Amino acid sequence: GAHKDEDLTNESYEFLCSLPKEKGWRTQNLYLYQGFWCQPKEIQATISAQNHFQAQDSDIMVASIPKSGTTWLKALTFAITNRNKYDLTKYHPLLDSNPHDLVPFLEYKLYADNKIPDLSNIGHPRLFATHIPLGSLPESIRSSKCKMVYICRSPFDTFISAWHFVNKIRPESYGPLEIEEAFDMYCRGVVGFGPHLDHMLGYWYECLAKPDKVLFLKYEDMKENLCFYLKKLADFLGCPFTLEEEKTGAVQEIGNLCSFKNMKELEVNQKGKGAIADFENKNLFRKGDVGDWVNYFTPMMVQRLANVMDEKLSGSGLSF
Ligand code: A3P
Repeated sequence: GAHKDEDLTNESYEFLCSLPKEKGWRTQNLYLYQGFWCQPKEIQATISAQNHFQAQDSDIMVASIPKSGTTWLKALTFAITNRNKYDLTKYHPLLDSNPHDLVPFLEYKLYADNKIPDLSNIGHPRLFATHIPLGSLPESIRSSKCKMVYICRSPFDTFISAWHFVNKIRPESYGPLEIEEAFDMYCRGVVGFGPHLDHMLGYWYECLAKPDKVLFLKYEDMKENLCFYLKKLADFLGCPFTLEEEKTGAVQEIGNLCSFKNMKELEVNQKGKGAIADFENKNLFRKGDVGDWVNYFTPMMVQRLANVMDEKLSGSGLSF
């Protein structure tokens, strides 16, 4: 069955069987774990991270819901925090590594497949990433002083991005995932790490309660005014740009290095594989636009998703 194929431990398999399940977008089933819909391997890795990951005060966690700009924020965070190590005119790791190789996910890389990684030799600050919802994070992430940068994106565009992505990476034998079916599941919250609005709200309220701990970013804002948000990100991470850097264009340079156009064209992102899992890196770069959803949504779809958003977000202060 599906679980055997996924190399789950017997313990994980037994636990899974106790959870509510629904058909997912890409594996047969998603399971409701601590309020969120996840794939079996993600649940096993999350539990392993909960049991073993020890955050340090200087750690930086990039957090997001899938398809909301994770790759971009990883690149920017890496470039900002390592900017004194590399001379941009000579060599930069982002030129021959995918951002997911430089800022690994707890649940897809480090704690995947029942591994317990040795993190003792990583330089500081250590950069990690996760899609795990706030309430299910390893305890030490919340109790330490480590910082979290969270990115989210308009649910309209996130849905279209996710739908394209899943159609590219899911096994051919499954056939295409029709947009109507995917959309119905999305609106009901049955999507990887969904309900997506609950995922955002978890980090949103944490940011309101602890603004020094969580920086809450939106894809659309960053597209519109990248330099402003890069400075904000650097300030938040405790490595503000100096006046000298601002004058010599260092902020802009980082923005250019990590731009969609630049990153998409790099060989590692055209031909490379396996930065997250067993698919081609090029699938991580599609259009990188704001508002592409208008090309796909019917008026009824707009109405339905807008209603879901009104219901979930009203009164929270979070809007799109
Ligand atoms: P589209 O499918 O709308 O193009 P994630 O990184 O969380 O998987 O999000 C993927 C989305 O971010 C995709 O959106 C992808 O094209 C876009 N993206 C990837 N790299 C980017 C970059 N450097 N700048 C802006 N957007 C980027």
